[in-house]
Amino acid sequence: MTDATEAAAAEGSPDAVSVESNAGSSHEAAPDARRRGLFVTLEGGDGSGKSTQAALLEEWLVSSGNTVVRTREPGGTEFGLEVREIVLHSRGFITPRAEALLYAADRAQHIATKVRPALERGDIVIQDRYIDSSVAYQGSGRVLGPAEIRSLSEWATEDLVPDLTVLIDLDESAARARLDGDQKRFDRLEAEKDDFHKRVRQSFLTIAAADPDRFIVVDGTAQPAEIAAQVRARLEPLLRRD
Ligand code: TYD
Repeated sequence: MTDATEAAAAEGSPDAVSVESNAGSSHEAAPDARRRGLFVTLEGGDGSGKSTQAALLEEWLVSSGNTVVRTREPGGTEFGLEVREIVLHSRGFITPRAEALLYAADRAQHIATKVRPALERGDIVIQDRYIDSSVAYQGSGRVLGPAEIRSLSEWATEDLVPDLTVLIDLDESAARARLDGDQKRFDRLEAEKDDFHKRVRQSFLTIAAADPDRFIVVDGTAQPAEIAAQVRARLEPLLRRD
């Protein structure tokens, strides 16, 4: 990419799409060969405290001199904000395959135009939700399986894997009590039954158990400062690597 297109891409600008497609370059380089930053994702059920932890982690990293890009899915780009509005707030029926594709489309745009450019600059990306959320949520609905959901997103992101994923584990009834305390707008997934959220929680725990090198699992009922300390301890060795 030229400097100008990279700048546009870093902004998540819609312009980046046409420039990228003109270049026709999606398979010409091994993207991870250029990667220098650190990619940290936060996962967990609704109301598990991801945003609080993302903020605490950002504060700590910035105060120790790092450049941080804090972002989220769905909705980390302008295009993604439009997708977010559809997947979360449209009240009409969306088929499971259409929903899975919408999350994957949001992710493809986000990773290509915002996250990869940040990693290539050497920044630390702290991202609220990523592929594991699709596997846990879209793969827990009894229609689509976890493997097909994961491979769809791997295709969408050209296999970008986080360096560290923080799973904040919280019992679904505790999470529900927190959400009910918030005055928030209708969200189609939060409105799902507890049984669904129980399956989502189990799915996250299964994913984490299968990939202990990438995951740290923390107890969402612990004090935020305690959780933050555990995350920092796990991240520190990754910050020192070259
Ligand atoms: P989020 O903005 O993290 O909301 P919250 O702060 O309430 O956790 O996520 C919104 C919803 O999107 C959440 O219910 C999970 C859902 N989601 C999926 O179902 N699949 C996905 O791939 C992603 C990224 C999110």
